[in-house]
Amino acid sequence: MKFDHSLIEKNVTLLIALVILAVSVGGLVEIVPLFFQRSTTEPVSGLKPYDALQLAGRDVYVREGCYGCHSQMVRPFRAETERYGHYSVAGEFVYDRPFQWGSKRTGPDLARVGGRYNDEWHRIHLMNPRDVVPESNMPGYPWLAKAVVDGPTIQTHMKTLRTLGHPYSDDEIAKAPGLVKGRTEMDALIAYLQGLGTALKP
Ligand code: HEC
Repeated sequence: MKFDHSLIEKNVTLLIALVILAVSVGGLVEIVPLFFQRSTTEPVSGLKPYDALQLAGRDVYVREGCYGCHSQMVRPFRAETERYGHYSVAGEFVYDRPFQWGSKRTGPDLARVGGRYNDEWHRIHLMNPRDVVPESNMPGYPWLAKAVVDGPTIQTHMKTLRTLGHPYSDDEIAKAPGLVKGRTEMDALIAYLQGLGTALKP
């Protein structure tokens, strides 16, 4: 028996209805199980929520739009794993709200940049990238070295994240302003970068 496809192709309403049906069923089957799979909902062992300074650095990363040139997602291809290290897994991102996966790579992926350089390298690089990578077209961010992190703001962020399930203790939240006191946004951003991708021990 041959199914007459022209029936659907000539009837726009029917076509739309069937497309919606196909996409809904396909979507549900693909997406819903992810909410219940341990590998996508549980943090990888060793993953901790960002400490106060790293959290402040993450805010700087988002504010400055670093994601416009950098992804944070090593894809499971040989070319990527040889360059960046182990591919990214979902359990590494449970404390990222919102995640910074991105898809634009004017610069290299940063998912595993933690520990690749020392803090001083990052400091010079963020002030003026061309001082360490002459051919770089990344902009400099010298003002970060002067801007100071605001403790109470970070404390509020941590409280909010706790309501969403990030396991911050009362003690960590109480000590947050002290931890970031006098630190610059540059310090915070470097602390954030140095932690990226270091929790996964393959
Ligand atoms: C206009 C695009 C652009 C923007 C915006 C940008 N970068 Fe870059 N970034 C690059 C390029 C290109 C490179 C490679 C050359 C270099 O190392 O400077 C790079 C390299 C890096 C590296 C070194 C990565 C490695 O593995 O060698 C780090 C770390 C980095 N960027 C962090 C940042 C941070 C943090 C921000 C936001 C404050 C940012 N970038 C914004 C383009 C950009």
